[in-house]
Parts: sequence; C-alpha cells; structure tokens
Amino acid sequence: MLRICVAGGTGQVGTEVVRQALERGLEVVAFSRHPPAPGSARYHNGAIYWAADVATGSGVADALSGADVVVDCLEGRSRKAIKGFADGGDRLLRAAKTEGVKKAVLLSIINCDQVRLGYQRSKAEKEQRYARADVETVVVRTTQFHSLLAEVFSVGSRVRLIPVFKGARFQTMSPSEAAAALLEEALDAPGRSLIVCVRLAVLRSCR
Ligand SMILES: NC(=O)c1ccc[n+]([C@@H]2O[C@H](COP(=O)([O-])OP(=O)(O)OC[C@H]3O[C@@H](n4cnc5c(N)ncnc54)[C@H](OP(=O)(O)O)[C@@H]3O)[C@@H](O)[C@H]2O)c1
Repeated sequence: MLRICVAGGTGQVGTEVVRQALERGLEVVAFSRHPPAPGSARYHNGAIYWAADVATGSGVADALSGADVVVDCLEGRSRKAIKGFADGGDRLLRAAKTEGVKKAVLLSIINCDQVRLGYQRSKAEKEQRYARADVETVVVRTTQFHSLLAEVFSVGSRVRLIPVFKGARFQTMSPSEAAAALLEEALDAPGRSLIVCVRLAVLRSCR
C-alpha cells in the first residue's frame, strides 16, 4: 500500500490531505510540532501522528521513514519562521532523500515570486529549493483560501471598515480543493520536476 507523509498534517490544508488520503485507502503519516490528541478536531482515525520540527530537523526522518511520497503543507508566519522557511524545506528534502522517499509535493502560493513581501519571498525561495532537490518534486501553487478573506473582512468589521484592495482581484478556493490537487500530484506517475497552478480550475504551467 502506498504510504504518504503529510508535513504540517494538522493545518487547514494538511488535515484535508490526511482525510482525503485515508478515504482513498492510503497509509497516512502526518507530522507537526504539536500532534493532535485522539478525538480532537484535527485528529483522523487511521493516521499515524508524529511530533517533528523542520526548524531543527528533530523527528523528521522518523516521520518520513517508509514513506513513498511527502506532501509539504507547512506554514511559517512569524518573523523567525519566515526567515527559516526555505531552510526547513531543505531539511525535509534532505531527510526525504535519505529515507528513500520518491517524490515531494509542495503547496505554495500563486505569483509568490512576483511579490516583494518577506512572506511571499519565503514561499518563492522554498520553491527554488524544491526545484534544486535530489528527489522528484512538484510545486502546487494555489490562490488564497476563503478563510483568508473572511479573516481580513472580520478584522475590518471590528473597526467598522470594509477593506478595499485597489487593483487586486481575488479568486479564493477551499483548503479541500487544494488538498485534492496536492493528492492528485502525489499519486501521479513519476515525471520531471514541475510547477502546477490551481485556481478554481486547474491550470498547468510546466517548466
Ligand atoms: N492561507 C492561504 O490563503 C494560502 C493560499 C495558498 C497557499 N497557502 C500556503 O499553504 C500552506 C499551508 O497553509 P495552511 O493555512 O494550511 O497552514 P496552517 O493551517 O498554519 O498549518 C501549518 C501546519 O504546519 C505545521 N508546522 C508549522 N511549523 C512547523 C515546523 N517548524 N515543523 C513542523 N510542522 C510545522 C503546523 O503544526 P504545528 O504548529 O503544530 O507545528 C500545521 O500543521 C502554507 O505554506 C501557505 O503559504 C496558503
């Protein structure tokens, strides 16, 4: 049976990847720094949860051991996490190589390489590390999730303002759509490293 490791398997997208992979009958391992307690909202029966931290490398090899493919749904929003985000990807990829994982699939953000903000730059830098990795890689870029805009407008509503983003357009999607696209790439036959873009429909732009 194919074994999939979901890095960040307790986040909003990672949890969905775990759920959908279990539904497909895959063997699923998920890791994060704080694995969920059995019965909690982010815990799925049938998945194996590991405590691992890509910032230090602790537990990462154990979580990847025996996996055929890893799906990277990690996030880093604090200043420190943004700074170390790409290096965390390197640690994950190196451990994947050592553990014999055949493919690594990364969730990233559409057009992150065209925005000069540190957060987006950390995503673009991680994509570069994936492009240079010693294992087969796929980068799935998606648009923003519905929850991000809901968060922005809820902050505005607290001060009775409706935020307006001049010149910006949003085409939001759900974390479960992103998870489905990640799984599709994870289960796809081996190929060369490429970038896949997902909006509401799937756009492919291979390099
Ligand atoms: N939000 C959007 O609109 C949007 C759109 C497109 C793409 N994305 C991208 O999608 C990815 C996932 O986003 P998300 O919203 O699902 O993230 P999230 O809900 O914040 O989940 C992040 C996951 O990573 C784990 N994690 C964080 N730091 C870690 C570390 N050092 N070692 C191991 N695990 C760690 C977290 O668990 P612990 O905290 O317990 O470690 C959690 O499981 C991000 O890279 C994001 O940029 C987001």
